[in-house]
Parts: sequence; structure tokens; C-alpha cells
Amino acid sequence: MLNDPTIDRRDALRHVAGAIACAAVSPPARAATGEAGRAVPFGSAVQIPWLVDNPEYRAAIVRHCSIIVPEGGLKWLDMRPDPKSYWFGLGDQLVDFGARHDMQVRGHTLVWHGALPQWAKELGSATEATHALSDHITKVVGRYAGRIASWDVINEPLPEDQQTPNERRTSIWYRLLGEDYIALALRLANAADPRAELVINEYDLEFVGARFERKRAGMLDLLEKVKKSGAPVHALGLQGHLRGERDIDRPGLARFIREVRGLGLDIVVTELDVMDYSLPGDVAERDTAVAARAAALLDVVFENCTPRAVLTWGLSDRHVWVPDYFKRRDKLPNRPLPLDENYAAKPFQRVLERFGAKVRN
Ligand code: G3I
Repeated sequence: MLNDPTIDRRDALRHVAGAIACAAVSPPARAATGEAGRAVPFGSAVQIPWLVDNPEYRAAIVRHCSIIVPEGGLKWLDMRPDPKSYWFGLGDQLVDFGARHDMQVRGHTLVWHGALPQWAKELGSATEATHALSDHITKVVGRYAGRIASWDVINEPLPEDQQTPNERRTSIWYRLLGEDYIALALRLANAADPRAELVINEYDLEFVGARFERKRAGMLDLLEKVKKSGAPVHALGLQGHLRGERDIDRPGLARFIREVRGLGLDIVVTELDVMDYSLPGDVAERDTAVAARAAALLDVVFENCTPRAVLTWGLSDRHVWVPDYFKRRDKLPNRPLPLDENYAAKPFQRVLERFGAKVRN
């Protein structure tokens, strides 16, 4: 995801005003209990080392999360120093923490173009790629069978700027195996843990604009093909990395969710946050705009389905990935998450509570 330095501040402010106006008049959110009164678990991505080393961080996660997913720790780069070795240190800490605190645990991620060790980037044939995927998915999903309830099996399979619906991201997996890598990975994961929820996870599916309409069309094309192949898939992960300057395409996203549901798939909101680099510096104004964006997305999601879960990509502004890629020009700290740098609730947290998030202790 690249920063958009061309964002015009006046444009951004216009968008913000629109977002706030929409959120202010949007119908009250439906209680977050869907089919058969199923409660929707709310939670966050976690940095596993901080769960162990940082009591304040750990207490906030325990207080606010009934489901967690690792930002890092279960990626190839974290676990696979060489083609024959596995290091499960962080993954084991994650599932132990989840079990200790009665939390559901998501796995992220089995197949991605990112966070790959050099040896994986240098796989040279379909045979090598098939062996690497089979070994990895079987060992990792098998190890956590029954303890990781849901996996982002395929992460970000679409190109940054989708042109035609059948276009796919040219990852090492796609280059060596073609689109079949997707069905292969899903089948391997299902064989290793038949009870796990298998998710295909993607960003930039939420916004107004031709580029995002094309990406939604690309995802529908992909999902239809996966379903036709007979490979097991249970849900689409809407990452939900929102932006201050991008409006949520309410009718377009509603239609898209209904079409995904029409394929028999659920929705998981997997990585919700609001990148605020283009929003005003004033904290109150910015926090209101961030909350309005999150509310706009969750309004559309909950009006058209009951998501399997809603997770933010981090809980507190004190620990957040966004400045690594989306620093503000005014150098003020980013504020993309539900809690502020002191773990105090912001308007974003109130929005999550409106959709059913509960404080656990
Ligand atoms: O752990 C090492 C540390 O030992 C080293 O000193 C340090 C300096 O290089 O790097 C540390 O690893 C970093 C890792 O996060 C820590 O968890 C990596 O450099 C850094 O690239 C990595 O960034 C993560 C990124 O994915 C790439 O894996 C971000 O935290 C994480 O928020 C981000 O999450 C992605 C999702 O997986 C997919 N969707 C988009 C989302 C945001 O980009």
C-alpha cells in the first residue's frame, strides 16, 4: 500500500465533512448479534512480544479483546529460517495466551507475497513451490489445529491496481503455480484442520472509485473460481485499512457483500484502522473523523451481514504500524486506532461498542 502524497488537504477536509455528516445520520447500528443471535467477537491484532513483556499492553488486550490475531509471528519470515526449519516460538506464545484468557485466535497468514524469507523468494519451479506450500501449511496448521480457529489462508491475492477481473497479484506463488495455488493452499489447510475457518483476505475493497470497483470485481471473480473448483473456503476477510480521504462506497460495498454472501461465504473484518495522515491535526476533529470512517464501514457491513468477527489492526495508538508507511506531514503522531496512546477510549472505541464490542473486565 503506497502513501498518496498528492492528497489535497482541501479534498481531504471535504471528504471528512462528508464522512461525519453520513455517520451522523446513519441509522443506529443493529446490535451485533446476527443469525440465530450469534454474538460477534471483537478484538485486535497483537504484537506477541509485548503480550509477554508489557503488562499495560497485555492488560488492555485482555480488557478489550475476545479474539486476537498476530501482526507478526506466524508469517514465513518469522518462522522459516530455511527450507527445512520451523520456529514456532511466537506462535506457541500466542495460542497459549489466547487459551489462558479464553480468547479466539486467528492465524495470519499462510500464503502471502510479503514477509517471505529469501529462500522462499528464490523457489524456482512449480514442484518446489508445491512442496514448500504443502510442507508449510500442513505443519503450521496441523500444529495449531483446534487452537487457531480461523486462518487467513490467502492474503492479498489481487494486484495493487486491478485492471481486468481475472488479474491476480504476480506473487512467487502465482508465478510458479498460476491461480491454482489458491485452491491448493485451501485444500491443504482444510486437510490439516478440518474445523478451521478458511479466509481469503484483501484490502482496498471498501472505497468509492473506479479503481476499487475493479478490485471488488476482481475479488468476486476470484471467489467464484475458487467455489467452482470445489476448494474449501468459508469467508472473505475485509481488511478495512480505511483512509481519512477515501469515502466508503456504501451502495457498492453493500452490493459486493451481498454478492459474496450469495456465494455462501461469510465476512470477517480483519484489520480495521483508519489511516489519518490526510486528516486535520486537531486531535478532537481527527478522532471524530476516524470514528466516522469506522462507523461508515461497520454500518454497511452490519446492514448486509453478520460478520464472523471484527478485529482492528492494533488497539492503541501507542503501538501502531501506520507511521512506518503513512507518516503525517505535520509530524504529529498518527491516531488510527480505538484507544489513544494512554489506552483511553476514543470515539472509534465508542463506535465498536455501538456494534457490540464489550469491555471484558
Ligand atoms: O522483529 C523484527 C526485529 O527483530 C527487527 O529488529 C526489526 C527491524 O528490522 O524488524 C522486526 O520485524 C518487523 C515486524 O513487523 C515486527 O512484527 C518487520 O521489520 C516489519 O516489516 C513488520 O511489519 C509488519 C508488516 O505487516 C510486514 O509483515 C507490520 O508490523 C504489520 O502491521 C503488517 O501487517 C500487514 C498485514 O500482515 C497484511 N495487511 C496489511 C498489514 C499492514 O501493512
